[in-house]
Amino acid sequence: MNSPRGLDGNTCVIGLQWGDEAKGKLVDLLTPRFDLVVRYQGGANAGHTVVVGDATFKLHHIPSGILNSRVMSVVGPGVVVNPATLLKEIDTLRDRGVVIDHNLLLSDRAHVVFPWHIAEDQALNDSQVKGEGLGTTLRGIGPCYRDKVGRMYAIRLGDMLRPDFAALVQRVVEAKRRWLSGCGGDALDAAAIHQEYAHHAERLRPFVTDTTPLLLDAVEQGKRVLFEGAQGALLDIDHGTFPFVTSSNSSGVGVSAGSGVPGRWIHTTLGVIKVYSTRVGGGPFPTELFDATGEHIRERGREYGTTTGRPRRCGWFDAVAARYTARVSGADLLSAMMLDVLSGLPELRLCVAYEIGGRRVTQFPSHIDDLRQATPVYETLPGWSEDLTRARGGDDLPLNARRYLERISELVGCPIGIVSVGPDREQTIFLQGRASAAREDCRV
Ligand code: GDP
Ligand code: IMO
Ligand code: MG
Repeated sequence: MNSPRGLDGNTCVIGLQWGDEAKGKLVDLLTPRFDLVVRYQGGANAGHTVVVGDATFKLHHIPSGILNSRVMSVVGPGVVVNPATLLKEIDTLRDRGVVIDHNLLLSDRAHVVFPWHIAEDQALNDSQVKGEGLGTTLRGIGPCYRDKVGRMYAIRLGDMLRPDFAALVQRVVEAKRRWLSGCGGDALDAAAIHQEYAHHAERLRPFVTDTTPLLLDAVEQGKRVLFEGAQGALLDIDHGTFPFVTSSNSSGVGVSAGSGVPGRWIHTTLGVIKVYSTRVGGGPFPTELFDATGEHIRERGREYGTTTGRPRRCGWFDAVAARYTARVSGADLLSAMMLDVLSGLPELRLCVAYEIGGRRVTQFPSHIDDLRQATPVYETLPGWSEDLTRARGGDDLPLNARRYLERISELVGCPIGIVSVGPDREQTIFLQGRASAAREDCRV
């Protein structure tokens, strides 16, 4: 068991809800304290936003530490990479003056998303499970991870740089044409796909390496590593709201598997929460709001998908779910984001339990049929009307906002170290205690 070392040791940033908790903002903010920033799962389904003054950067594969060229950005073995999207990301960042050179590394073990994965994701889009569509991001993530686990038809970044790459593509395309006949398979052209991907591979070659020994050397040499989770713990393939999840371990348990760095080197887990809930795509969401309050949150929080532009479903903070995900992820400290969004609501509700089949339950259900039946039991707290976007210290927050945060912390069972009151780096409050030492380093 590692003892939490505040934000001094190797730290992972994990979303504790259904994604979009503002992990990107936090990772960018904390990056100056670290030597390396590592993405280790997910792929272009992620959309992480970093705002610096008037500039907004949307990142899909590249770690949100990339704006700091001193820091090495690493895309680890557990990520699934779409080369065209990644190259576009690199080009866009470079066009905007961001240095991408010797500060980016891609694991040769990372699996590659091909057109057949996207075709399959799209073909499955209309299918229903448990009476509802998954509503994926259509980025081919599930099919690519499935091929990885299936092993026979998987292609990794390292494979793209080998002499037999053309033959590998030919073999996989033949199989995919058979299986995906009628849903995009017939259109697959092995030669054209190989040509396109070989071109991408040449452009990516300078970045591709075996990142695993490099990360192990780094932690053994005492370098500081920040791990950037994608999605959120409720979307974890094993521990989330299955089957309405993504296809990787997006809770804290995924850090070691996806990066190759054993748990003994990971000192602190920073759980990221929004002070309300959102969800994109299908699946149960007990505290979802369909009224003016939900609309208030969506509009004030600009809750539209970073990757797909879809309106996000919005609802009250669910402490039953967050307590569960904080425990599964081993959260030492919470970062509470988007507090400014709740200004102007006269009352706020926190879900403290569910009622399922006439029973009061505080344990997060393992089966979505139970979660679907869950009626939230709410505690009501007074809201506040003040604009919080200029608050820079705990004392700048209205009493009701502080009480709201304290109650969240109590219910989740974890201290809050950081509070965010706007997208910009400076719209951040480091509270007393373990996170406060980070304040100076992170000042922009
Ligand atoms: P991620 O996927 O977890 O990195 O989150 P996203 O980038 O998808 O969504 C978070 C959105 O909230 C982005 O547009 C951020 O710029 C914005 N944001 C981050 N922190 C705050 C905050 O404290 N208040 C407000 N109003 N917006 C924030
Ligand atoms: P970040 O990293 C929010 C959701 C999709 C869908 C489900 C499965 O920005 O927080 P997938 O394409 O992964 O097979 O879709 O997961 N989803 C996300 N929701 N934020 C994300 O990433 C997400 N990545 C996937 O909407 O419900
Ligand atoms: Mg996002």
